Amino acid sequence: MAELIILKLGGSVITDKSGRCSVDIERISALAEEISARKDIFPIIVHGAGSCGHPEAKEHHLDKGLDQTNKAGIFITHHAVRQLNDAVVNALRASGVEAVGLHPLDACTAKNGRLISFECGPIELLVKNGIVPVLHGDVAMDEERGACIVSGDQLISYLAGSISVDRIGLATDVPGVLEDGRVISHIDAVSARNLKINESGNTDVTGGMRGKIDELLTLAEKGIESNIFHVSRTGDFLDGRDHGGTVVTRENVHEKI
Ligand code: IPE
Repeated sequence: MAELIILKLGGSVITDKSGRCSVDIERISALAEEISARKDIFPIIVHGAGSCGHPEAKEHHLDKGLDQTNKAGIFITHHAVRQLNDAVVNALRASGVEAVGLHPLDACTAKNGRLISFECGPIELLVKNGIVPVLHGDVAMDEERGACIVSGDQLISYLAGSISVDRIGLATDVPGVLEDGRVISHIDAVSARNLKINESGNTDVTGGMRGKIDELLTLAEKGIESNIFHVSRTGDFLDGRDHGGTVVTRENVHEKI
């Protein structure tokens, strides 16, 4: 049976972050071809927003919740990331991979920025029927704040807690988690505490690499490890080879001998 894999495509690898909703069709098509070429894996795709959603979310300060001034931000942000979702679904289908977009705004509820419900039934049935679900970071309705931004990373952490998957990988625009310019091969909750991550001052609404690590550590605590690697190594990850990136694991799993 094919291995079930959650693959997150970071927003910065599928959009050009310097433009406004500038979709990198070439990169998306190349990734779709990589996926289509592999018959031993079956992916659930989750993608980020990059320049199709982050600027809108920030402009409408949705990360601070909903008030009387920013209601339109829900439509505007959701619409932007949905356009990117269509591009990913279309590229997969053009490569011969049957796929369909699913939108968290329609199917989940959050409380104080954290997902408290997400209907996973349709995802499981799509997988069972050989159709690739394509989800994305999104604006979501929030019981406390009115609305919030749910990152693709938070979605992964929720999904992997509900659906049993074989492997989790995050394709990013960096080769892994970097400290002093070098890739850290393994991170656990203990080593993460002392980690000095250099991020640009302009961290996006979902917290950049630190937000990603925190999310993946939540998953690691449940015994589910995940992999962060450069997008150019996606094929290696899909094939189960060394991807040269970072593995986020439960404490002490990879103790030095
Ligand atoms: C952000 O999702 C969603 C919105 C801003 C609507 P992510 O946080 O997963 O996006 P990237 O990967 O950082 O671009």
